[in-house]
Amino acid sequence: MLIKRPRFKKNILFQLTGSIACYKACNVISKLVQEGYEVKTACTENALKFIGKSTLEGLTRHAVYVDTFEDRSALEHIELTKWMDLAILCPATANIINKLAAGIGDDYISTVFLACDFSKPYLIAPAMNRHMWAHPATRRSVGILREWGVKVLGTGTGYQACGDKGAGRLLEPEAIYKEIKKNL
Ligand SMILES: Cc1cc2nc3c(=O)[nH]c(=O)nc-3n(C[C@H](O)[C@H](O)[C@H](O)COP(=O)(O)O)c2cc1C
Repeated sequence: MLIKRPRFKKNILFQLTGSIACYKACNVISKLVQEGYEVKTACTENALKFIGKSTLEGLTRHAVYVDTFEDRSALEHIELTKWMDLAILCPATANIINKLAAGIGDDYISTVFLACDFSKPYLIAPAMNRHMWAHPATRRSVGILREWGVKVLGTGTGYQACGDKGAGRLLEPEAIYKEIKKNL
């Protein structure tokens, strides 16, 4: 019997940072792969405290980018910006949002961001406690990123891991998947 293999539709760079919502991002990655998208992942060191490299490698069949100075990764942060059709940062911590808006490039994800020219869609799906989301630093950074053409998605409202209720929750995987498709 002929096994139909999905043809790669588009290349997606999926980037994760240190949030409890990393597990939700895996559902989005899994859905993208099942739909035939080619997905490569990048993580901060702190994201790896919430999710294992094996999970991401198993889902995408690609190694995870974490360290800019890893042997095999030399200059791949530039190559990735050419390879990708869309980048998404999901979940995006308050820390990474504020770092990107300040132009800091001290880890893999922020370095890739500085190498992007915004001719391709760059989406950010924030996930954080309601006070972090409402913080003046975060509000200002979201404004700056939107001015630069970055598509910062909204957040869900409701129960948060810390027990609070309010804005800042990561959108549900299905909504994030739809945003990716819409922006490709
Ligand atoms: C259990 C736990 C859950 C966390 N969840 C979040 C979160 O959802 N959003 C956030 O902005 N920070 C969260 N943090 C704090 C970040 O992990 C911390 O600011 C870290 O420095 C972010 O690093 P990164 O942006 O380089 O991944 C959490 C920390 C812990 C210990």
